[in-house]
Amino acid sequence: MKTRDTSPHTQHLGQAPMYFDYAASTPVDGRVLQAMLPYFTQEFGNASNVLHNYGKNARRAVIRSLELIASSIGATAPDQIIVTPSATSANWLAMVSAGTAGSKPGHIITSPVEHSSVIAAARHLEKIGGAVTWLEVNSNGLVNTDQLKKEIRQDTALVSIGHVNNETGVCQDIESISHLCMDRGVTLHTDATQSFGKTGFRVDNALVSMATFSAHKIYGPIGIGCLYVRNNTATKISVPGDYSATANVPSLVGFATAAELTASMSTSEISRIKYISMEFLRDLHSRVDVQLNGSSTNRTWDILNLSIRNIDGADLARAAKIAISTGSACRTGSREPSPTLHAMGLDIDRCRSAVRVSFGRFTTATDAGAAVDEIQKVVSLLRD
Ligand SMILES: Cc1ncc(COP(=O)(O)O)c(C=O)c1O
Repeated sequence: MKTRDTSPHTQHLGQAPMYFDYAASTPVDGRVLQAMLPYFTQEFGNASNVLHNYGKNARRAVIRSLELIASSIGATAPDQIIVTPSATSANWLAMVSAGTAGSKPGHIITSPVEHSSVIAAARHLEKIGGAVTWLEVNSNGLVNTDQLKKEIRQDTALVSIGHVNNETGVCQDIESISHLCMDRGVTLHTDATQSFGKTGFRVDNALVSMATFSAHKIYGPIGIGCLYVRNNTATKISVPGDYSATANVPSLVGFATAAELTASMSTSEISRIKYISMEFLRDLHSRVDVQLNGSSTNRTWDILNLSIRNIDGADLARAAKIAISTGSACRTGSREPSPTLHAMGLDIDRCRSAVRVSFGRFTTATDAGAAVDEIQKVVSLLRD
């Protein structure tokens, strides 16, 4: 595979405000786009109709893509991959399937710092009569694993703990959690949407039963994700009828290409981004009164959640000529303090001043330096 970046998006980003919102969505990598293009115009067949070459080629692309996605994330076989329209629906599928598998809605364990789609699925289960245990979270953003040990019950159908938090970059100790769940015979689902390619996460090493992924966080197209389900997982995934709809071949090819690239580049990409992000934070620290929210050790460095004292995060995000957010993409614009930061026990001022700055494949050290200049400038303006 070629490794040259041909992304038209990086050229475009030269004129637009510099992009520091990779946790919300990533531009499609040029190599991914190139791989997808033929499936819009030449290989456009229906993968279910293999009576002619159009369909046969599409079918081959589907099979190959599933194999690539599986091997990139550390799965052993393509039939462990359930393709979904998003990570949101993969999370729903995992949780609602597990929570409703018995004769009555069962018990699940999760935490208040999960992605909103996990929280929504848990709330749904509560509404239909299921029991949900919400684990405590400390000020570093880490879930209480001692409590997890105590809360697992005979009827616990699922533990769902995300690996990397989308707002803070805090990384849960998923290996310990998975050993704990295995010892107790409980199915563990993890949302690995912000983790794959940003940590060494692979489903084989992490020993999870189910894991969620999304293409648009790894330089693939928006609108496709997957749920990995390990063989012999107790939870039987009930896939709604329309999952047998005509395969979205271009997106699947894009997802697979993005996953393969991400897996092959992750070691060098992680250290490059860590260096840039740490320099950014050091530089910013020397110029404004900034606090890093969440653990400074158990984290990925592509996502920084920062509070600048006496500065409203939304004002800063609006005024700065760089693309940043005040929290997760789904919460930006909300005046309510982030439930994640709130669960970590941060005071209201610190929650209100929080901004998320996230770095990615196309961020350079020069961009990061310019972002520090811009933040310092806007902070001075807002203080005047
Ligand atoms: C951790 C996490 N899970 C799930 C999602 C939802 O992803 P999608 O846009 O594919 O539904 C996101 C996106 O922000 C995320 O960061």
